[in-house]
Amino acid sequence: MSGLLQGKSVIITGAGSGVGRAACLLFARHGAKVLALDIGLEAVEETAAMVTGEGGTALARECDVGDAGAVDAAVAALVEAFGRLDVIYNNAGITLQPRPGYAGVRKLVDTDDDEIERIYRVNVTGVINGCKAAVRQFERQGGGGVIVNTASVAGLIGWGGSAYGSSKGAVTLLTKTLALELADQNIRVNSVCPAGMATNFIPGLQTSDAAKASMAATHPLGRPIDPMDCANAALFLACDLSSNITGVNLPVDGGLSAGVPPRR
Ligand SMILES: NC(=O)c1ccc[n+]([C@@H]2O[C@H](COP(=O)([O-])OP(=O)(O)OC[C@H]3O[C@@H](n4cnc5c(N)ncnc54)[C@H](O)[C@@H]3O)[C@@H](O)[C@H]2O)c1
Repeated sequence: MSGLLQGKSVIITGAGSGVGRAACLLFARHGAKVLALDIGLEAVEETAAMVTGEGGTALARECDVGDAGAVDAAVAALVEAFGRLDVIYNNAGITLQPRPGYAGVRKLVDTDDDEIERIYRVNVTGVINGCKAAVRQFERQGGGGVIVNTASVAGLIGWGGSAYGSSKGAVTLLTKTLALELADQNIRVNSVCPAGMATNFIPGLQTSDAAKASMAATHPLGRPIDPMDCANAALFLACDLSSNITGVNLPVDGGLSAGVPPRR
C-alpha cells in the first residue's frame, strides 16, 4: 500500500517524538512532502533524517506552537519549499510532569496556575494557532484543505487529570465547531483521540514494564496503544479515504471510551 498522500504538502507538529515522528514516517511513505515541526530542533532534525533515510521528503524546523508568529512563519516556509499546504496535523501536546512524592493522578487543587497555563498554551492555543495559520493559507489557495488534530481520550471522557482533560476537551469541541465553520470551504477538520501510550510524554513510562502493562489493562482490547496506531488514524483522516468525514473525534483507545465493559 502506498501513495495515499502522494504529492501532498503536510505540516506535522510535535514531530520530534512519539505520534508526530510516527506520522512523519508514515505520511512520507505515502508520498507526502513533510515539514516536521517541534520545539526541540535536534529531535525534529532526527525525525527528518529518518524520513529522508527511507527515501522520503522531509524538512525540519524549530517551532513553538504556542507562538502564533512562529506557526505562521512555518506555514510560509512550507509554501516556499513545496508550493502549497494540503494538510496540517496539529499533534504537539504536553501534560503535567509527575511531582515527586505525589502518587496518582494530580488533582486540580494541587495543580499550580503556571502548570495550567503551560498546558493550555500548547494543547489549546497551539492547536488554534495551527488551525488559523492553515485556514489562512487554504483560503489563499482558493479553499479546500485538511486539518487533523491530536486530542485525547481525555477529551471524550473523564480520564486523567482535570488540567489536561479540560485542555483536550477544548480540542475535541474545537474540532467539531471548526468543522462546521469551514465545511462550505471544503476544509475538513477531525481529530485523533489516543489513550495512554509509552512515549516521551510521561518521563519514565517507556522504561517501566509494570506501568505499560497496567495501562494496557485499561483498554478492553487489552493491548498497548502504539504511536503508529495513531499515525494510521491520522493518515486515514488526512487522505481522501475520509473525504466525506468532518467533525469527528476518532478514538484510538482499544475501546476505552466505548463505555463500561460487561462483567465477565
Ligand atoms: N502519550 C500519551 O499517553 C497520550 C495520550 C493521549 C493523547 N496524547 C497526545 O498525543 C500527542 C503526541 O503525544 P506523544 O505521546 O507523541 O508525546 P511526546 O512527548 O512523545 O511527543 C510530543 C512532542 O511535542 C513536542 N512539543 C512539546 N511542546 C511543544 C511546543 N510548544 N511546540 C512544538 N512542539 C512541542 C515535544 O518536544 C515532543 O517532541 C499530544 O498531543 C498528546 O497530548 C498522548
